[in-house]
Amino acid sequence: MKPFIYITRKLPQDAVEPLKQEYQVEMWEREDVPVPRDILLQKSQKASALLTMLSDKVNEELLEHADALRVVANLAVGYDNVDLEAAKQKGVVICNTPDVLTDTTADLTFALLMTAARRIVEADRYIKEGQWKSWSPLLLAGADVHHKTIGIVGMGNIGEAVARRAKGFDMEVLYHNRSRKPHAEEVLGAEYASLDELLGKSDFVVVLAPLTPETHGLFQKEQFQAMKKSAFFINAARGPIVDEEALTEALKTGEIAGAGLDVFVTEPIDPDHPLLSLDNVVTLPHIASSSTETRHAMMNLCVENIQAVLKGDKPKTRVE
Ligand code: DGY
Repeated sequence: MKPFIYITRKLPQDAVEPLKQEYQVEMWEREDVPVPRDILLQKSQKASALLTMLSDKVNEELLEHADALRVVANLAVGYDNVDLEAAKQKGVVICNTPDVLTDTTADLTFALLMTAARRIVEADRYIKEGQWKSWSPLLLAGADVHHKTIGIVGMGNIGEAVARRAKGFDMEVLYHNRSRKPHAEEVLGAEYASLDELLGKSDFVVVLAPLTPETHGLFQKEQFQAMKKSAFFINAARGPIVDEEALTEALKTGEIAGAGLDVFVTEPIDPDHPLLSLDNVVTLPHIASSSTETRHAMMNLCVENIQAVLKGDKPKTRVE
């Protein structure tokens, strides 16, 4: 019998075709709704490979009965939905999709920053709601981006790609990271700063760190208080890095000027969430890496990683 592969979301046929030639492949039939947990658990019990989304929890409960499972290819660079220790115990290889999404994610992160600073969403709504009566000197005046200071929290590949974009806007680049990044310092002129120093000096605080026990809840009331009142907070990493109640309060009371958020503690966010009622917040439904080209590249990488592991080869992008 051919090994069984389960794909937890409906993907384009051409993306999964290479797997179909050699394996028995099944896919959850919906594009917009995650596979129900009971179905995922049931499919995992006989799967040799899973192609998962960041919304699927790959934990002990799933791995416990997944006796044939050899590889999980997660369609994301982040893998906080995967229990790496449990996978290691079970001998399951975990793969992610770094590199192929770096520039696309950096583009969107910078777009979010620009959108929040220059009030683009508000301006669009203003016209479409028929409010535009005349040109006026301070109509929808935003904050400049060029020549300001950006503080990047989490200086991985995406952080560096955002720093490159910031340099094009003549910005000063500060960064905070677990370890120093000589390349970013030498080539991009980025300056290492403690988190406190970065918060105090930055006009734009951009979070790009992975979600780990150390970064969980990193941004609380105190961190927003440490920021400039004119500063913007941009999160394109993971929602739980931020205490959303503290962020809402900081935005309401003018502790900070605005925010651009691609990620939330709970996704999808409740449409009645207080954050969504604020004009100084721009929100996106976790689409930082979502260009057609990049999402296809991510799917292809997942497929290649699955093929490699099932053939006994080294996958391209294993999470170590
Ligand atoms: C990732 O790859 O981790 C992103 O959050 C997906 O857009």
